[in-house]
Amino acid sequence: MNTLRMNFKKPTWKAEYSLYAIFGYPLSHTFSPRMQNEAFKALGLNSYYIDIPIPPERFKKLVRSLKNSPLNGFNLTVPHKEIILKALDSVDPEARRMGAVNTVLVKSNGKRKKLIGYNTDAYGFSKALKKEAGFNVGGKSVLILGAGGAARACVYALLKEGARRVVIANRTVSKAKRLIRDFSKIKTPGKTKLSAIGKTPPLSLPEFDLIINSTSLGLKGSDPLPINLTKSPNQKSVLIFDLIYNPSRTKLLREASKRGYRTMNGLAMLLYQGARSFEIWTGKRAPINIMRKTLKDVGAG
Ligand code: ATR
Repeated sequence: MNTLRMNFKKPTWKAEYSLYAIFGYPLSHTFSPRMQNEAFKALGLNSYYIDIPIPPERFKKLVRSLKNSPLNGFNLTVPHKEIILKALDSVDPEARRMGAVNTVLVKSNGKRKKLIGYNTDAYGFSKALKKEAGFNVGGKSVLILGAGGAARACVYALLKEGARRVVIANRTVSKAKRLIRDFSKIKTPGKTKLSAIGKTPPLSLPEFDLIINSTSLGLKGSDPLPINLTKSPNQKSVLIFDLIYNPSRTKLLREASKRGYRTMNGLAMLLYQGARSFEIWTGKRAPINIMRKTLKDVGAG
């Protein structure tokens, strides 16, 4: 007969759970908590993902104490992807080259903790382009609007996949030039021509096969368009990719569709970057279909 012994003097029961978070500002638009929590549930993991909206000046102050938090891992979004680099013990070589980190794994070794940084945005970006739009970057001419952390991941992926030409258009042209300087040492299969401009017009849109919006213009309904869309003779073959996923159809995407351009929002990129983050944290294969369905449901409702 088995006997069940319980020792109340020495408690043996311990609540085991893992906690994850996303830091960003603003964060009201994020779908990551729903997507990650459904993925944890699907795999029966006692893990939870919360959102922590925190403005940049406060994040700067707490960034070095993140190691003392109860988090097992976290994501970074606008505008914390670059400042986090200061607080990391090690950085994955690709993320180091990009100069932006969106995923951190907290590795616990007894009492010591280490923060390891990764970037899953570039992977998410490439995978979304291929899987959702059947778009192959090799040999293509690309215009990217914005030069922040998200742009860094996109430019890195474009270089790696051999785009012929990448033009970075940013309000602050010095930032676009710095991005190019930082990336000039990366060896690319297609000898990509990189250039920076401060204003989008006058640009001839037909020169581009792919136009990406990585600026925050479009998050609010009252935002102006990040680029003037002219009609072009080959607009059916031009893809306009807005990295924003909430709202699902930004003014840019609506105007582009009206003019006959192919369009795509950032939902698929969110899915694939999130799946890769999940795998880094848990060491398990991400339940991609459940994550996709969750995003569809959240996006629709
Ligand atoms: P992310 O990590 O998502 O790239 P970010 O690093 O804050 O976020 O970058 C936001 C991008 O949107 C920048 O390129 C920014 O331009 P600046 O470098 O000139 O700041 C661009 N952006 C934000 N608001 C803008 C606006 N009102 N007009 C034009 N560009 C804007």
